[in-house]
Amino acid sequence: MKHIEFQDKNGSFIIHDPENYSGLYLPLAGEKGLKSSITPNLGGDSKTDQNHFLLEPVSIENLHNNRNTRNFWCQVYKNTEAGDTALSGADPKLLGCWSVCGNSAEQEFQKFTDKQDESTLEAGFMWQKISRKSQKYGLQAEVTSFVTISGDMEVEYVEITNISEKKVEIVPTGAIPVYGRSADNLRDHRHVTSLLHRIRTTDYGVEVTPVLSFDERGHQKNNTTYFVYGSDENGEKPESFYPTVEEFIGEGGTFLNPEAVRINKPGKPSGTELQGKEAVGGIRFSRKTLKPRETAGYILLCGIADAGEQQFPRKENTDKKAIDPAKASKWIESLTSGCRTRSQVRNMLEEVKEHWIRKVNVAFETGSEDADNYLKWICFQPILRRIYGCSFLPYHDYGKGGRGWRDLWQDCLALLIMEPSEVRQMIIDNYGGVRIDGTNATIIGSGQGEFIADRNNITRVWMDHSFWPFVTTKLYLDQTGDLDVLFEKIPYFKDLQSKRGTAHDEEWNSSYGNLQKTDANEIYHGTVLEHILLQNLCAFFDVGDHNEMCLHGADWNDALDMAWEKGESVAFTCAYAGNLKDIAYVLREIESVQGINRIELAEEMECLFACGKQLYENPEKKQKVLKQYTDLSAHNLSGNKVVLSLKMVCSNLEEKADWLVENIRKNEWIQDGDKGWFNGYYDNHGRKVEYSAVSDETDNKAGAECNTRMMLTGQVFAVMSGTATEEQIQAICRSADAYLYDRKAGGYRLNTDFKEEKFDLGRMFGFAYGEKENGAVFSHMAVMYANALYKTGHAKEGYKVLQTLLDTAMDFERSKMYPGIPEYFDNQGRGLYAYLTGAASWYMLTMITEVFGVKGQLGDMVIAPALMPEQYDQEGKASLKIEFAGRKFSIHIFNREKKEWNKVQIKEAFCDGTLLSAEGGRQARLKRSEIEKLTLEKVHEINIILN
Ligand code: G1P
Repeated sequence: MKHIEFQDKNGSFIIHDPENYSGLYLPLAGEKGLKSSITPNLGGDSKTDQNHFLLEPVSIENLHNNRNTRNFWCQVYKNTEAGDTALSGADPKLLGCWSVCGNSAEQEFQKFTDKQDESTLEAGFMWQKISRKSQKYGLQAEVTSFVTISGDMEVEYVEITNISEKKVEIVPTGAIPVYGRSADNLRDHRHVTSLLHRIRTTDYGVEVTPVLSFDERGHQKNNTTYFVYGSDENGEKPESFYPTVEEFIGEGGTFLNPEAVRINKPGKPSGTELQGKEAVGGIRFSRKTLKPRETAGYILLCGIADAGEQQFPRKENTDKKAIDPAKASKWIESLTSGCRTRSQVRNMLEEVKEHWIRKVNVAFETGSEDADNYLKWICFQPILRRIYGCSFLPYHDYGKGGRGWRDLWQDCLALLIMEPSEVRQMIIDNYGGVRIDGTNATIIGSGQGEFIADRNNITRVWMDHSFWPFVTTKLYLDQTGDLDVLFEKIPYFKDLQSKRGTAHDEEWNSSYGNLQKTDANEIYHGTVLEHILLQNLCAFFDVGDHNEMCLHGADWNDALDMAWEKGESVAFTCAYAGNLKDIAYVLREIESVQGINRIELAEEMECLFACGKQLYENPEKKQKVLKQYTDLSAHNLSGNKVVLSLKMVCSNLEEKADWLVENIRKNEWIQDGDKGWFNGYYDNHGRKVEYSAVSDETDNKAGAECNTRMMLTGQVFAVMSGTATEEQIQAICRSADAYLYDRKAGGYRLNTDFKEEKFDLGRMFGFAYGEKENGAVFSHMAVMYANALYKTGHAKEGYKVLQTLLDTAMDFERSKMYPGIPEYFDNQGRGLYAYLTGAASWYMLTMITEVFGVKGQLGDMVIAPALMPEQYDQEGKASLKIEFAGRKFSIHIFNREKKEWNKVQIKEAFCDGTLLSAEGGRQARLKRSEIEKLTLEKVHEINIILN
């Protein structure tokens, strides 16, 4: 049976009885403002940041008991042919209370026994519609939920239809509990913070303005108002309100069986003021008689009037003036009055749908409409991570908001494809987070280029961090040809941390500020290129006893975090070797294209160009060079520059890269019959972490048991960086297939089962095997594995990785997830941590640049497809819609006989009918100068004919 049924080519889908599956939720958000999550029962939460939660914060384990949430009730009266009998109070004619969200004690009880309701969910980007039919009550309801593009409010539009043959009488009541405070108060001062609440009812709703906010920033005067408003479809006011939990659920009541609904309790009129209680936006509408097939509509709006964002500029801690409630109410009134009728809501919904569809301006046609629709959601995911960071969906309950450094840069990869115009400045601003010791700020503010000093003084260096910025920058250079960006000048980040997490700069204090200065007390600026060189050269010298780069706090795998002293990451030593080579490549281009042959750097950095085999082979000597540099730059810089020849810089980088590669090939390769792989790590005892049970001598083994230990990460970066030779790549593929591949779990696992709680390497070994960073099929690393394979001409192997992931996600019975790619699949193949994963950026990028082979090459567009026969449709055609250099392209690859990718050549290539050069049959090229002549409005057709 097919569970997910797509409705169009834009990812809209339906699913029946979604509440019968656990852990499902959708994101609903605006471009800024509200970030909500919503389950099929309308559970989930809504917030603008850690300190402003409109609905009570939820984690994944709260979803199945998340009942104090958005709800909409109908008290349904026994049919009387006469229609409207005047009834009140606990009513003998009351047939029952029906929740249009399936969120009542009665529905809960009957869910798996005597199922009375049928439900269907329809959803797309940033909206969902749940339809529910009750035979018992003769009613059908549709609830459409979305957040406005501006993110000012979340909208619930409820339509109730009489599907019986007789008149039905209902009293509709909407209820959205207002949490109205910081997530910190979930357990810390939960009750005390409710005493701060000031609650009032207006003509249309309930407003809650806490007097103070209590959170990690201390106690401050609050200037935020939380609201729930309602109207009927014609904009009519509600009848009355239930503004407090106490009143709504009653003594001994629950949100599944609230007293106000159960006994038809009269509500409070508008103009009521209450204090010091848990709040609810309980909104009671007037009694309504529905004729057969008649429909009535109701609108609930909820949001956060952040006085800071709106009419009163927020000055944290300094603004001691009390918020003027009338002002907030006025703003809420003006906001909600534009969304008070059926047609207003409909228009808004259309705008929302259109907006997010437009944002995802990439589309694939690969012979399977379902797969193409999953890919649509994957392309949408990087946008979601830009909005939500890693903190604000039910699985993602870590951190207090914002994104990590590595995620910041990798999300940029996708944005480069989807919103390229904004990325240039983003790249420049993000380099402002680099410290003068080559490490970087790890707390990233909400504004672009805003970095915050670590409040807790936790010195943690993730040794992979310096690797990612150049990866993104390289893609940018290739897509745009804009080499000038490398010469943009920006400052460095400065805080207490110094010498790569090994010391504090005691001379620094907050009055120095967060920008690196010179001895002359001026802010020091260096080029983007200088930042790149610094990051990668410092890493080169930062080695451990085995002459591989120190692991420090961890690398890409955050859970390898317990080998501070002696840990080394060979995986990322490979990665940096690749960077050094690529930087040299770009610099040679600069020399040949722009004629530049010298560059200027801070004079302190000159020592990082020290070279020679003797130095390279000696870890102590390398550490000394690093020390020399970090001593020189421990506090201020001199401000003097040194001029270096570009040729010298290039050959220096290449020499270093070559040495790294040779050293790794020589010392880290593990042979295992016809298989083999690279050891990726050293543990805190300085022992090799990976080995083969077949052929390794035991003396260097980290664990007692002699089970084969292989990790994927080391292989990915060895392949991607060109460290692995062709023969080695083949052996790696055989090993990965033998030791890591598990079709049922979704593909290639991150590692084999070490069967040891390896506390000399990281917390990952505390996780159950097959979960998350300990041996799950972790999509992000798997996709990077695919990328590395495609890049080195192993398309078939790469395809297997990508396709297994996609097939697993698409197999709903197992993955139990809405469309998209999850962070990982567990041992049963369930997809976990929906939406927010770096895997999405890399998946999309790999599909475009490797599978379709549409890449930038210093501004030109080059097309070298590597599609498998099954990725073409019946006619042997595969298509990609994409923007490049501000132009829209529809690229079609024709392989009529569906031959293997490496058995065909490009016969002809056209852009809008004009012949393109098919370089050696390998790739077609559209020159930048030609692209720039193309019009901006029209979609340009590129046809690539293979034979
Ligand atoms: C997450 C983090 C990422 C980290 C990875 C492994 O992956 O976001 O920074 O490298 O775990 O620890 P993601 O959610 O991007 O798949």
